Amino acid sequence: MEIMDRQEYSRRMAEQVAEVEGMVRGFLPHVCAGEAGMPGRGDSFQKTIFEAMEYSLMAGGKRLRPIFIREAYRLFGGDEESVVEAFMAAMEMIHTYSLVHDDLPAMDDDDFRRGKLTTHKAFGEDMGILAGDALLNFAYETALKGVGQARNKENALHALQILSEKAGVLGMVGGQVVDVEMTGKPLTEAQIDFIYRLKTGALLEASLMAGAVLAGATEEQVARMEKIGACIGMAFQIQDDILDVTSTTEELGKPVGSDEKNEKMTYVTIHGMERAKEMVEEYSGQALELLEQLPGENPFLNTLILELIHRKK
Ligand code: IPE
Ligand code: IPE
Ligand code: MG
Ligand code: MG
Ligand code: MG
Repeated sequence: MEIMDRQEYSRRMAEQVAEVEGMVRGFLPHVCAGEAGMPGRGDSFQKTIFEAMEYSLMAGGKRLRPIFIREAYRLFGGDEESVVEAFMAAMEMIHTYSLVHDDLPAMDDDDFRRGKLTTHKAFGEDMGILAGDALLNFAYETALKGVGQARNKENALHALQILSEKAGVLGMVGGQVVDVEMTGKPLTEAQIDFIYRLKTGALLEASLMAGAVLAGATEEQVARMEKIGACIGMAFQIQDDILDVTSTTEELGKPVGSDEKNEKMTYVTIHGMERAKEMVEEYSGQALELLEQLPGENPFLNTLILELIHRKK
C-alpha cells in the first residue's frame, strides 16, 4: 500500500480544502442584480436565509466528505470535474445541515461549531431550522445540476439515489432519531453500533459510493466502498467521542463535554478510553485492508484514512 510523505500529504490536504471551499461557495444561491428583473441576493426579501446558509457552510470544517467523493472518483478514473463537483458541494450541504440541526436546543443544544457561534445562536432558532431546511433542499438542486451535465445519466442518477437514501431515514436521519431517543438511557452494543453506523457512517459511505458510481465502478466495487465507508464512519465517530473528552473547545471549534452534558453513552463511556482508541485503529485498519483489495492505487486516500486515526479536530 502506497502512503504519502507526511509533508506532501499536508500540503495536498490544505490545497484540497481550499479548492472545495471555493467550489462550494460558487454553488451557493445567487440571484444576479437585474436578472429577470429580480433584485440582487443582497437586497432580496429572503436575504437572511442566504446569509445563514453561507454562514454555516463557509464557517470552516474539514471538508472530508467532498474530499472522499473526489478521491473515490479518482480511484476509479472519473474525468468529469463539473459533475463530481456538484455532488461534492451537495454532500457538504447535507452534512452542514445535519450539524446545524444537531446543534439546535431541541437536540444537542450546542453554542459553537467550526470555531464560530452555531447558526441558531447567530441567527435565531427559527433561522437555524430554516437554514438547515434550505441547505438540505439546495443540496438536491445542486446535485441535479451534476446529473444534468453527466454523460452517463444512469450513473449520475444512481449516485443521487445513494446520496438521498444515505441522508434519510435509512441513513443519517435514522441514526439521529435513535441517538436522540436513547439520550440518557443505557445502550446495548448493537444499539450504539446502529447509531454510529447511521448517524455518522451513512454520509461517509455515501461519499465513497457516489464517487465510485459516478466514475463507473462495478456493483461489487461500490459495495466494497460502502464497507470501507462504514469502517471509516465507526472510527470517525469513536474518535469524535474521544475528542469530546480529551480536546479543548478552542482546538475542536465546538464545545467539549457535549456528550456528558447530554448524558449520552458513547464508545468512551461503554468501553473506556484505551479500548476506544484501539477500536479507532482497528476500524481504520479494516478500511485500509478492504481498500487494498480494490484495483488501482490512491496514496492520498490511504494516507487520509491513516491520518484520521490521530486527528485532533
Ligand atoms: C462532525 O463531523 C459530526 C460527526 C459526524 C462526528 P466533522 O468532524 O466532519 O465536522 P466538520 O465538517 O469538520 O465541521
Ligand atoms: C452527530 O454526532 C452526527 C451528525 C449526524 C450531525 P455528534 O452530535 O456527536 O456530532 P458533534 O460532536 O456535535 O459534531
Ligand atoms: Mg448529536
Ligand atoms: Mg452534537
Ligand atoms: Mg460528538
